[in-house]
Amino acid sequence: MRVVETVAECRELLQQARATGRTVGLVPTMGALHAGHISLMTRARAECEVVAVTIFVNPLQFGDPEDIAHYPRTLDRDVEACTEAGVDLVFAPSVLEMYPHWPAPVATTVSVVGVSEGWEGASRPGHFDGVATVVAKLFSIAGPSRAYFGEKDFQQLAVVRQMVADLSLPVEVVGCPIVRERDGLALSSRNVRLSPEERRAAVVLSRALATGRALLEGGVHYSSTLAEAMRQVVESEPLVRLDYAVAVGHQDLVAREIIEDPASVRLLIAAEVGPVRLIDNCAGLEVASTQAVPARHLERIA
Ligand code: PAF
Repeated sequence: MRVVETVAECRELLQQARATGRTVGLVPTMGALHAGHISLMTRARAECEVVAVTIFVNPLQFGDPEDIAHYPRTLDRDVEACTEAGVDLVFAPSVLEMYPHWPAPVATTVSVVGVSEGWEGASRPGHFDGVATVVAKLFSIAGPSRAYFGEKDFQQLAVVRQMVADLSLPVEVVGCPIVRERDGLALSSRNVRLSPEERRAAVVLSRALATGRALLEGGVHYSSTLAEAMRQVVESEPLVRLDYAVAVGHQDLVAREIIEDPASVRLLIAAEVGPVRLIDNCAGLEVASTQAVPARHLERIA
């Protein structure tokens, strides 16, 4: 496995791979890799001949200086995890490699209107411009490829898909199922910042989603009823402060009062647990988009 830090090397190696007829699978990450990331690499490994993982904590997508200051950075362990997962190339650039004039504002950025505006976009102004900009840069560096993203960041996935369609980027975006701990907590690099009590409390997010889904499956088709039920579940846990719990269309992420087709619904939730903002989501009708954590990966994240 090669680890490179420059745009030129990454571009060159992936171009060479394509020149010999090999397909490229790209897994963009911010490091602090856990079993959710490993599942993306495993999928890319199964579907592509060359697998490249990018590790870059993108300052453009963080509004809160505390958040980026505390974002876990574990490059040596991440590189080991990539080796074990059979990755061919790790691209781990510096901030100046990606944004040569940093901290001066980046002159050219990408904004995806509509799908980026509600929910996370409303609570974290500028976040999705930062995500879209860095993902556009990574796609430009990597070239034609398949790119693997987790469904945990469901709105991010929608933003990236919209950007790829609107800009005709030569990338096939593949959404991959959420990976959960045994009690239901969705894996996130931020989970390591939870105290034991907060970690225990955080499971209320997936419980709220399960409540919403059970109501939907039971025939409740009013978004406001589902939202209220999910809110009540979260409020039963004093350590958790709800931001939003909503039922939205799975493509446009818009909430409509009457749900006509439960199969086209996504339940989204976000909350602060102690100092950490957590998000989670599930399909309206089933939990088919979740998968259990393989035991050997649980050891890695313990
Ligand atoms: O999901 C993430 O880890 C990041 O938002 C991404 C897609 C790597 C862009 O920085």
